[in-house]
Order: sequence, then C-alpha cells, then structure tokens
Amino acid sequence: MTRSSQTSSASNEFVLTDAEFKKLTNIVRELTGIVLGDHKREMVYGRLARRLRELGMQSFAQYCSLLDSKESEMETGFLVNAITTNLTKFYRESHHFDFLTDHLKTICNDPIRRSGDKSVLIWSAGCSSGEEPYSIASTILSSVPTMAQWQVKILATDLDTNMLATGQAGIYSKNSLQDIPSDYARVFQENTKVENDKIHVRERAKDLVHFKQLNLLHPWPMKKKYDVIFCRNVLIYFDGPTKEGLVKRYADMLAPGGMLFLGHSESLQNKIDKLTLIGRTAYRKEA
Ligand SMILES: C[S@@+](CC[C@H](N)C(=O)[O-])C[C@H]1O[C@@H](n2cnc3c(N)ncnc32)[C@H](O)[C@@H]1O
Repeated sequence: MTRSSQTSSASNEFVLTDAEFKKLTNIVRELTGIVLGDHKREMVYGRLARRLRELGMQSFAQYCSLLDSKESEMETGFLVNAITTNLTKFYRESHHFDFLTDHLKTICNDPIRRSGDKSVLIWSAGCSSGEEPYSIASTILSSVPTMAQWQVKILATDLDTNMLATGQAGIYSKNSLQDIPSDYARVFQENTKVENDKIHVRERAKDLVHFKQLNLLHPWPMKKKYDVIFCRNVLIYFDGPTKEGLVKRYADMLAPGGMLFLGHSESLQNKIDKLTLIGRTAYRKEA
C-alpha cells in the first residue's frame, strides 16, 4: 500500500486504503445500485468518517470487519443512509408540475375514468425527505380542485430511512419555500403552521402522501398501475443497464397514457418501448 493509495483527512484521522474503498463501494453498489467511482473517494471518506467516530472506531479496516461480521445487517442500514445523496427541494424542475396538472385535469374530464372508481395513483420513487411528494400534493390541492372528489394516493418511497422519517414528520425550514413560484408559496404558507422558522405541512396534504421504504432494485409490491411516476435525480447514481432496466419497469408500471418524469440530466439515450418524449424529461406511455 503506497501513501498515494490512501485517503485521510487533514488531521490523518483515518486511513482509507484502495482495498477498503473498493470493498465499501462494492457493498454499496450491491445494496443500492449506486456506483461510486474514484472521484467519490473524498465524499465516501467524509460521510463514513462520521460513522466511524460514532462507533468509536480507529480505522476503516475495523469498519470493513464489522461489515463482514454477523452484525453487518444492522450496519448496512447506516451505511446506506450515510452514502445516499438526498439533495431535493420543493417544486424542483417546476415544468413537471405543469405537465402533472394538465394530465390530472385530463383524467378528471375522462368519462371512462369518471364512471370508474375515481382513483388516481402517483408514485414519487426516490422521494428523499418529502419535498417532491408534497409538491405533488400541493399541485393537486391548488391547481386541480376537481380532484377533491377523487381518491388520490401519492406513494413516496426511498431507501434512506432518515429521509423517510423527515418526510413523514412533514416539518421543513421556512427557507425551503423561498424559491418556489408565488402561487404555490401562497398555498404552503396559507395552509401550514409557521413557528420557529419551521413550516408544518398541513394535514390535507399529508393525508395524500404515504411514505414507505422501498429499494428500487428489489421487487415492487404494488399491484395496481400508476397514473404518474416521478423518478427524478435517482437514476444518475446507477449504471446504464440498471437505469435502463428501471425505466422499462416504470413503463410496465404505468397505466395507459400515464406519465413518467425523470431528472434534468437523465434523458433516455435509448428509445424505451411504449414511452414517448413529450417535454423536457417528461414521457408518456402509449394510450
Ligand atoms: C437526489 S435524491 C432525489 C430526490 C427527489 N426525487 C428530487 O429529485 O428532488 C435521490 C434519492 O434516491 C434515493 N435512492 C438511491 N438509491 C436508491 C435505491 N436503490 N432505492 C430507492 N431509493 C434510492 C436516495 O436515498 C435519495 O433520497
């Protein structure tokens, strides 16, 4: 092991060898699909050094041994929570919410849907701390009033249990509403309690959103078809085949005419059967 193959903080707190880095990134890839190249070495070091300190460990070698031991199952949860990148915000890539509004209005006006069970299913896959599913809920409540007569369910899933807990609590800093369009800001401010610079998502919006842990690489338990799927800024962390496989599964999961939204840098290179590009990283399933 040469000095150049090690990563450590300025104070040389822990040494991370090539072999340990490789082992950790292999475990993360197997568990989550997230690919961590060499350029992520400092990030991995930084995020896991905190965990080593919490555990009172002296080295990454010790941490790797823990991951090899019988107690590894519990630790892999912490590892995953530490490694996932959870950056998100309310109304991120706001053009998707305009497509959402139009699509839901079309559903409301569809005589076949109106005479059916009047249920609408939306999935925020990789929802992080909840800003995305709550933006969906807010869009519905503010822009599609006719949906009030419908059974709307927004399934919000993520791998990271800390993020799901934040989403479930529905409490955010007031600052997080700063950049959102004024009409939506009004919806949030009018309908949320404001205290100590925190906003509480109002119950009506919370009632629409159901948070669940789900690893996207695992089988999906949902049986029904979804009208809309948001999977934004998640696929970028995966390799090509994983990304393509997931998009095919989303296409199968969508109801005819349903919509899939991906993140701004995740446009599909290969044409996916049944999906047509209708706007910036917005896809429609054939009707
Ligand atoms: C950058 S956030 C995107 C949040 C939101 N969709 C947005 O665009 O603002 C990516 C999220 O994907 C989740 N994630 C990563 N790999 C996952 C997997 N295999 N299964 C489920 N969620 C995963 C992470 O925990 C993280 O919260």
